[in-house]
Amino acid sequence: MNDDPRPIGVFDSGIGGLTTVRELFQCLPGESVVYFGDTARLPWGNKSKDTVTRFSVEIASFLVRQHVKCVVVACNTASSHALDALRERFDVPVIGVIEPAARAAIAASPRGRIGVVGTLATVGSRAYADAITRLAPTAQVQQQACPLFVPLVEEGWLDHPVTRAVAEEYLAELRQARLESLILGCTHYPMLAPLLADLMGPGVTLIDSGAEAARATAQLLAERGQLAPSGAGARAPHHHFFLSDEPRRRSFATVAQSFLGRPLPHVTVVDQTDLPWFERSHHAPPLTGDRP
Ligand code: DGL
Repeated sequence: MNDDPRPIGVFDSGIGGLTTVRELFQCLPGESVVYFGDTARLPWGNKSKDTVTRFSVEIASFLVRQHVKCVVVACNTASSHALDALRERFDVPVIGVIEPAARAAIAASPRGRIGVVGTLATVGSRAYADAITRLAPTAQVQQQACPLFVPLVEEGWLDHPVTRAVAEEYLAELRQARLESLILGCTHYPMLAPLLADLMGPGVTLIDSGAEAARATAQLLAERGQLAPSGAGARAPHHHFFLSDEPRRRSFATVAQSFLGRPLPHVTVVDQTDLPWFERSHHAPPLTGDRP
């Protein structure tokens, strides 16, 4: 029976996770979504495990306070570093992007030749490589960090000669590796899928980690009987988007719209005093010593 009208919580370091929300809207059109993008502290892709874990726990507590029925960790960097900490700490199911994408890549790679692209933190964690070899011990995984992709996508340079030149540089070795699939291990990379498909060639299946996580969420909620009520009398879904800061960028609305595939609905820029981490930093002892 489907009888859980509570929203699905989704978080990301910023607005890139809207690519996952777009996939959730496709898979689960009857579900409400509460999204949190930590635009005040982005990017996370070059931060340490401890910092990414702390940010993730803080945001998941915010979402749990919004009475979500599960938490989808859209951010690949957070999924790589913080999943265990989140699962230990919270009672609601926590769905990351790593395992669903690893399974899809294995299914698409009969000879086990799999590539992974992601942020420096995601690639450095080896979370994808470890998940793949745990599930398919003979698989061969080749990874490549592509740190310039995030700012290029945020700039809206999806089909731009500079982005193509950067991608050619990053993908040079992967293009020689006779891969069968390539995991797009970052929220922003699905926006570059046409370019990456062109460079990798038709023999390489691109795996969208957000789309796989959305499918895993649909399956989990169905198994637990926790889908939203449907049919006559069911309430229309209601979505809420929170950001921790309002990006001061000319193309923000356009980029957000292209991530989500539709105009971004009303966004609440959270009052910093309402955030769980504000209290902590607000009451932190003043800096001592002879700093100016
Ligand atoms: N959302 C991040 C990820 O998927 C990319 C952006 C960032 O570095 O914060 O890894």
